[in-house]
Amino acid sequence: MQQKIIILDFGSQTTQLIGRRVRELDTFCEILPYNKFPKDDPDVIGVILSGSPYSVHDPEAFKVDLSQFVGRVPVLGICYGAQFISHSLGGRVEKAGSREYGRAHLETVDTSNPLFRGFEKGSQVWMSHGDTITAIPEGFQVIGSTKDVTNAAFWCPGDNIVNCKSSNCKLVWAVQFHPEVFHTLQGKLLLKNFVVDICGSRQEWSAASFVETTVAELKAQLGQDRVILGLSGGVDSSVAAVLLNKAIGTRLTCIFVDHGMLRKNEFQQVMDDYRGLGLNVIGVDASEKFFSDLAGVTDPEQKRKIIGRDFIEVFNAEAKKIISVSNEAPSGAVGGACRWLAQGTIYPDRIESLNITGKVIKSHHNVGGLPKEMNLQLCEPLKWLFKDEVRRVGRQMGMPEHLITRHPFPGPGLAVRILGDITPEKVRILQDADDIYIRGLREYKVKLSGEEARRVLAAGVPAEMQDGEIEVSLYDQIWQAGAILLSTVRSVGVMGDERTYEHPVALRAVTSTDAMTADWAHLPYDFMAKVSNEIINKVRGVNRVCYDISSKPPATIEWE
Ligand code: XMP
Repeated sequence: MQQKIIILDFGSQTTQLIGRRVRELDTFCEILPYNKFPKDDPDVIGVILSGSPYSVHDPEAFKVDLSQFVGRVPVLGICYGAQFISHSLGGRVEKAGSREYGRAHLETVDTSNPLFRGFEKGSQVWMSHGDTITAIPEGFQVIGSTKDVTNAAFWCPGDNIVNCKSSNCKLVWAVQFHPEVFHTLQGKLLLKNFVVDICGSRQEWSAASFVETTVAELKAQLGQDRVILGLSGGVDSSVAAVLLNKAIGTRLTCIFVDHGMLRKNEFQQVMDDYRGLGLNVIGVDASEKFFSDLAGVTDPEQKRKIIGRDFIEVFNAEAKKIISVSNEAPSGAVGGACRWLAQGTIYPDRIESLNITGKVIKSHHNVGGLPKEMNLQLCEPLKWLFKDEVRRVGRQMGMPEHLITRHPFPGPGLAVRILGDITPEKVRILQDADDIYIRGLREYKVKLSGEEARRVLAAGVPAEMQDGEIEVSLYDQIWQAGAILLSTVRSVGVMGDERTYEHPVALRAVTSTDAMTADWAHLPYDFMAKVSNEIINKVRGVNRVCYDISSKPPATIEWE
């Protein structure tokens, strides 16, 4: 039996974060839309109700039948979840005089309650709500209050829950604040108290156990079949490949397509890395085809479409070769027919509930569109993992750190970082500028302590705490960085005695947890000065460097 916590999503921005926190407690969890509770699943050991953009009084507010799980397993309501519990069980929820947003402190906290065991009086919590709970339901007791919010946390010890007819009555907790965010300083402890002590998680979900069980499952699922996988150089597809390699060895064939718009020397470096990992990998240099099909195209969507189409064409042609060779091999040859297409799809790519508010936040970027006649089934060994877990699994399997901590890079590559039409010369200019920038980010080390250090360590950055400090590179501190060539813009400059009339390069660096929202990274001025000098001095064709200080939303991470 694999114990699991169910997180019912009511549409909050931080639902995924609750999931990550539970996984950090080595406990498996599934995030499901609020109305998809798996009633008959015996492995569920607890339920968490998320926050929501709605008020419980909104006509379109999401509602759930609490009797499906209240009384059967422990329940924790967070923010809207707490308000919904209160509203549904006979308490009162009203508009707050003003939106309660930001830091608050638990002025009173019942540390004898299992949810708050180990808490400090005055502990900082993070509030973000427009409604407030003015009366808790009958049978419930307040266990935490802030200066402005009396009913900040409350629980029902079990027997008195209105509507709960079960003789085996379990417990319900509700917190008005968000334990999943970093600003709730003891939020992790609260979630540990709930998941481990109250729900009884055995904490068996770990990178090592994941590798062991997944390899065994893949062996059983795939038998002697062959598998094809498209590698992108990114961490997800690389980790998927190494897992499959462990399970079926050279019956896995990987295809890595070079469209000519990768980073400087990246194709060769990544091919070397893959071969070093023992992967059976075919590198396809298709750059000429891509450059010729892109010639003169300036519209961003048009560029993306051409690259997507070409990519599928090149990938399919290679896949067909592999399929026909393996399917025509004489019986008795090592390995069977090629029946599978593997992908590095991860959990955030597929969480259904992202759509519950009707907003598509992120589209799926993996290889798609294999023709039906190839008759391949999908194999997605990472489909339950968050990005930081994928990295942990990679480390567990001994993959090199530079592959694991590599920043995300868009499928269309530098094409979406060159404004205007694409030529090999512009790609060369951008590769050189980008290389200086990225190398600089890797070389520049900073010391961090306190909350900042904890945040970086929690994200899985491999650093040792010494005297309360860690040393990390700027590269490891940020989510993603890259240079953008503004090839449609020219400006005047002077070099030596010469007038120049060349292009600017914009530098972008963002912090984020999932690319759905992002903030521009506050890079040190001395670093920016050094990189700017080096780019202008060394990269011919560039005479100006700017730094992009836009957040997402309203900007996006990529420029096109
Ligand atoms: P945006 O620009 O939408 O990017 O804020 C969000 C994240 O997605 C990456 N990205 C892509 N990845 N194919 C990919 O594999 C694409 O077409 C693509 N477009 C954007 C981007 O680098 C960022 O991490």
